[in-house]
Order: sequence, then C-alpha cells, then structure tokens
Amino acid sequence: MPAPHSASQPSPSPSSTYPTTPAGARRILLLDATFDDADPFRQVADRLATLADSSGAVVSRFCLEQVRLAPCLGDFECWTKTPGLCRTQDDAQNIARAFQQADLVILVTPLRFGGYSPSLKTALDRLLGVIHPFFRQGIGVTRHAPRYERYPALFFIGLEEESSPTARELFTAFAGGNAINLMAPCFHTLALAPTQEAWQEVLEQRFTAALAGRDGEAFPHHPPADALARACLADPHLPPSPVRQAALLVGSARPRGESTSESLARGLAEKLEQQGVSTGLVHVIDFIKPGRRREAALATLGEADLLVVAAPLYVDGLPGLALKALQQIAARPGRLHRVAGLLNSGYPEAGHNRSAMAQLRCFAHDAGLGWAGGLAMGAGEVLHGKPLATMPVMLRSQIGALEKAATALAGGLGIPPAASTAMARPILPAWLFRLAAKLRWFLDARRQGTPWNALGARPHELEREEGPVRSGG
Ligand SMILES: Cc1cc2nc3c(=O)[nH]c(=O)nc-3n(C[C@H](O)[C@H](O)[C@H](O)COP(=O)(O)O)c2cc1C
Repeated sequence: MPAPHSASQPSPSPSSTYPTTPAGARRILLLDATFDDADPFRQVADRLATLADSSGAVVSRFCLEQVRLAPCLGDFECWTKTPGLCRTQDDAQNIARAFQQADLVILVTPLRFGGYSPSLKTALDRLLGVIHPFFRQGIGVTRHAPRYERYPALFFIGLEEESSPTARELFTAFAGGNAINLMAPCFHTLALAPTQEAWQEVLEQRFTAALAGRDGEAFPHHPPADALARACLADPHLPPSPVRQAALLVGSARPRGESTSESLARGLAEKLEQQGVSTGLVHVIDFIKPGRRREAALATLGEADLLVVAAPLYVDGLPGLALKALQQIAARPGRLHRVAGLLNSGYPEAGHNRSAMAQLRCFAHDAGLGWAGGLAMGAGEVLHGKPLATMPVMLRSQIGALEKAATALAGGLGIPPAASTAMARPILPAWLFRLAAKLRWFLDARRQGTPWNALGARPHELEREEGPVRSGG
C-alpha cells in the first residue's frame, strides 16, 4: 500500500485509494472537478482538503481534470460481465473503490448549465457498478436495488462566479436525484461563489455539518408531478422562424446503430425530412478529443438552424460526454438559433428525465439560443438501436409525438405540450418492466458467462466494525 498523500497537495492520479485507516478514523473522498491551480475555484477545493485533513479523517482526493477518465460506454458490463467493476482500465476503478469505502464523499464542481462539469459527471456515470442491476418499487417511482449494505453520505458543492437562483435550484434537484440513486444515507448541497464575503466560514460550517451528518437536505421522494412537463415547455416568446436544416446530436456513446438515442434521432429526422427540413446526424463520440472528427461535427452543427439533442439519461442527468460536446457547441454555435431535447431513460417513468431536460434548456439559454422544447420517454431500452417502426403498437403514442413535434419544429414553432405528454406516456406497466429487466440481466449474464448468483458481487466491500448504514432510497 503506498504512503498516504496529503489531500491539500493533490495527487492527480493516486495509484490506490485509501491507505490503512487508523481504527475508528473516518474516510473522506474528495472529487475535485476544478480545473487547475490557476482556476480561482481551486482555492475552494484546497480549503476543503485542508478541512478534511484536519478533521482527522483519512482523505483521498482525485483531481478529475487530471486523472484518466474515459466516458461510460453504456454497455452495462459492470452489471452483467464483471459485476460491480467497470471493464475500462483507468482511474474510475480507484474512484469507485474510494467512493464505496468512504463515509463522506465531497463533490466539488463549477456549475455548468445548472449541473456538474463534464469531468464530475463522467466520474458519476462510471460509478454505475456500485448499484445493483435489479429494479425495485421506490416511493412512487422505480429505483435500483442497492449492491452494498452501506453507502457514503454526499456533499455536493457547486461553484459559480455569480449567484444564479435558477442554476442553484437545478443543482439541488440533481444532487437530490443522485443522492437517492446512489443510496446515500443523507446529503448536503452548497452553491458557493468564492467572490462572496466570508465564503470560507460558510464552507467550514457546512463541511462540519456534513461530516456530522446533520442539517442535511430532505430527499425529493415526491418531485413535482409536472416537473418534466415544465422543463419540456418551449420558450414562450420563441421567434417563429422556419427551420431549413436540423442537426441531431446523438448523446449516447454506444456504437453507431445500437443506441435508443439514435433510434429516436432517426425517427425524428425522418419526420423532419417529410416536412422539407434537411437533417444531419452527429455523434458525441466525435467530441472525445480535439481533431478532424470534432471539427467536422462542429461544422455540421454550426451549419444548422436547429440542434436536437437526443441523449440517454445517465445518473439523473446528461452523460458526461454529451456535456463535454455541449460545452464545445456553446462556445461555437455557428448559425444555430434554437435547441430541442429528445431524451430517454432506462426507468419506465419518463419523469426521471426532468432535471436533464431542464439542463438542456439551461444550455440553450447559456449559449444564447432559443429553447424549442423537449420530448422524453421512459423504458428506453426497448429500442436499443431498432427503428421505431419495428414497434408500431407499443410505441404508437411516441411515434405520434415525434410527428407532431416535427411539424411544429419545421414550421418554426416550439414542440407542443401535447406532443411532450404523448412522448412521456408509459409504454408498459412498471411491474412488467421490472420483471422483463430482471430476465434481460439474467440472459445477458448467461451469454457473458457470469453465474446468475454473481450479479450481486461486492468487489469493493470493506470489512468494518460499524454496522450497516441505512440507505436513502
Ligand atoms: C452510466 C449509466 C447511468 C444511467 N443512469 C440512469 C438513470 O439515472 N436513470 C434512468 O432512468 N436510466 C439510467 N440509465 C439507463 C439509460 O438511460 C438507458 O439504458 C437508455 O435507454 C440508454 O439509451 P442509449 O441507448 O441512447 O444510450 C443509465 C445508463 C447508464 C449506462
């Protein structure tokens, strides 16, 4: 085991997670998405590291902009082939182990479109293996089952240059969704501008409360039923200018032809073409690194009037790689003047997409573009690259929604609320979904040579003296 590193002097890529912990000491993981030492936000992360060190806890810090962190490929092999472990060999394994063994995880990020930075979101996406593939009935909606008996408390810190109530509200909603899905026993949030007076005192107070597990946020078990409908509403004063060219950004990192996002993007593109709009498809995978492919993707997008972001829901938000692409597009929007969202979630209830849709709206506004509204569906895995036309009965409502949306978008209008409602209609009852999903994981596991009773493996389990901690789900 390597010697412990001081958290206030971050190791960009620790080769291991925690050193041996003195009996009774707590473990804190700091996921630091500030950029570098020249970043004015870095002082907040450094201060947190000092507070964590001086609390007597054993601290592990990952500087996410410096570690090796590939995007999630969305293949679910961390559930079915190597249960609990991601197959991509980079720092995500160390982060997952440190996460699972921590008592408190502090996530510090600049606010991007009301949510996390692409690097923090990628780190969260890669944590999928810490939960169990099976679904259960949560309070009002479907949830995953826990893989482990205990999970860490979470403290989310969003850094902003100036206070923005809308971004803060969205950040808290993301944190709440993540806290439920990542089974946190309790969670805290803090939106902070390091230009504000006495920010150090505020940070210290909240850190102390988070470490003691007091004054946490209430779990949003009952998010407002109309939250998705509100996020899907187009800007009320969207200028009615007709769309001639649309670019559809496929936000899934799955191979071409295999994602639900691509099925939906192609379904909408077909209907837009019928309305005389020319269309082009671009994949987020082209944004992984600078170069010719990224330039070509940006050129295609910049030629269009309308950008449709067709993306899966990953850990309650947009995938890290999709955020990375959006960040580049916001910097170079070209001729784009409006954005629409086309999301799909794994859970059968479309309402899970609400924060991701609100984040797309935030992206549009931050980039100076109009928000033309959104469509979101649940149980997205039914498509997985298949054309919508192969399921005309099951997806009748969703196909009608795409038709209505295409007509409105081509005519320069926002997506009508009736189309968003039709898209969100459940395509199968939640109990049937849970049963079908269980069968799918068993079959996938068998195909990959994994014994069925290994699906619940706990590779990061830590022997502890304390009893299990209650989970928040
Ligand atoms: C890393 C990861 C995180 C996910 N998180 C969520 C989630 O929080 N809520 C949800 O409903 N589905 C979640 N899903 C399921 C995807 O949304 C679902 O599989 C979707 O249909 C994939 O679409 P795609 O084929 O376009 O990638 C997650 C999937 C992955 C790979």
